[in-house]
Amino acid sequence: MKKVTAVYPGTFDPVTNGHLDVIERATSLFDEVIVCIAVNSLKSPLFSKEERKNMLIESVSGFSNVTVDIFEGLLVKYAEEKHASVIIRGLRAISDFEYEFQLSLTNRKLSPAINTIFLMPNEKYTYLDSSLVRELASYNADIQDFVPKNVQLALKEKFGF
Ligand code: COA
Repeated sequence: MKKVTAVYPGTFDPVTNGHLDVIERATSLFDEVIVCIAVNSLKSPLFSKEERKNMLIESVSGFSNVTVDIFEGLLVKYAEEKHASVIIRGLRAISDFEYEFQLSLTNRKLSPAINTIFLMPNEKYTYLDSSLVRELASYNADIQDFVPKNVQLALKEKFGF
């Protein structure tokens, strides 16, 4: 039977429990999931791409069919190179929809054989994003419900606590 590979792109600055919830759902749907960190020139990340990759590798170590990678350039080109037929995106709330709709239709126009599949994280993560986590961590607030332990420690170190 044909193996189905999915890519899950994002900035992951840093990875949150919401992202991990989406990854876990994806692992039961696809044979292989590649979590790919986008190098986005419009964002100035707190963590370097290598730091983000290392945090992700540690966070997904419990899943045997997940790998982590960094990509630059066009997402569909990267997906084609990896023989992936699916792009995974998380949909947290209606507010995500318009942007995700534009992204997925553009990607489909560029590469019609690749489908975007939206997964909804657990509702307890619907309000969560990486900016919120970074802001809370900068004030040394308690973020244990939002990110895994290794990310908590990395944020503490980054902000000098
Ligand atoms: N849980 C928690 N937070 C989540 C989340 C979830 N399940 N899903 C998304 N988010 C948050 C992210 O943490 C991020 O937060 P931040 O902006 O506060 O840092 C925000 O939602 C944006 O999500 P992200 O998944 O990181 O997307 P992005 O908009 O940064 O990146 C790419 C989108 C990488 C997929 C897109 O820019 C891309 O494909 N780039 C490559 C170039 C390309 O092909 N361009 C053409 C696209 S049509």
